[in-house]
Amino acid sequence: MAPSTLTALVEEKTLQQSFVRDEDERPKIAYNEFSNEIPIISLSGIDDNEAEGRRSEICKKIVEACEDWGIFQVVDHGVDTSLVSEMTRLAREFFALPPEDKLRFDMSGGKKGGFIVSSHLQGEAVQDWREIVTYFSYPIRNRDYSRWPDKPEGWKEVTETYSEELMGLACKLLEVLSEAMDLDKEALTKACVDMDQKVVVNFYPKCPQPELTLGLKRHTDPGTITLLLQDQVGGLQATRDGGKSWITVQPVEGAFVVNLGDHGHYLSNGRFKNADHQAVVNSNYSRLSIATFQNPAPDATVYPLKIREGETPILDEPMTFMEMYKKKMSKDIELAKLKKLAK
Ligand code: SIN
Ligand code: FE2
Repeated sequence: MAPSTLTALVEEKTLQQSFVRDEDERPKIAYNEFSNEIPIISLSGIDDNEAEGRRSEICKKIVEACEDWGIFQVVDHGVDTSLVSEMTRLAREFFALPPEDKLRFDMSGGKKGGFIVSSHLQGEAVQDWREIVTYFSYPIRNRDYSRWPDKPEGWKEVTETYSEELMGLACKLLEVLSEAMDLDKEALTKACVDMDQKVVVNFYPKCPQPELTLGLKRHTDPGTITLLLQDQVGGLQATRDGGKSWITVQPVEGAFVVNLGDHGHYLSNGRFKNADHQAVVNSNYSRLSIATFQNPAPDATVYPLKIREGETPILDEPMTFMEMYKKKMSKDIELAKLKKLAK
């Protein structure tokens, strides 16, 4: 039986079988073998229209990072540092609550938002070593406050402000990418129709045998762009050389890791990469990360906005974001089945 919280498993010496990954999926490098290859970009001056030179310099770096990696970090991003530390403090306090308090917001059974051990959500055979609390924040009409934790005190107010600030930052980055595609600066946000935002707070407890498991299995994000806040422990890994090797992203105090998702990749006709990533865990420290997903509306059209000379479209035909998402999910399930058969 899959555990409903991981708290009870932390002190065990060996990992329960349900978390053990096939050998080819296990971590190749450690959580703290940091690399500084992923660009770290200061956004200081990005809003300054007088400082033409500085803005275009920043934009150039962002565009290059999206073309080379699909993942980069931003500092001097303008999101209030005390808001970021409040958000982190409250998130840690939530996961430290007794299991019964967290389970009052249990999402099993298809509820939209709340607490869950992540793999219950995906219905997968092998479980990820993580607990999550998630809420849907945009469009505002989708907010169901009955699914937002009422503990620790201040959660609703702080998470609301955090969501608003991150929506602003994401739109700013999408403007840069739209301009790089020679489109109107609103083009990418408009293509999302009524942009969705979902926040997933990840807690990865200490793990007895981290070399056998993953905190979050390898994936690309389905949406347009994701902003990830991580603590100083480390564990986010991205691929390089077309998926042949891995790097662990160096945590940078106060930075957001930005990664492009499948929607962003398709809209740019593949020019911007959709970063392939995973999270690994360790036996020394628990780890916290907060992922803010900016997604198109379910019925938004997915098709390249710009096909450059000499390029062919990477999609045969337009589809809705919901169709794209379902296709992705069924492909994952097919792959898992094939893997099982091959054993
Ligand atoms: C994610 O990919 O959503 C989270 C990755 C992390 O926790 O580093
Ligand atoms: Fe992700």
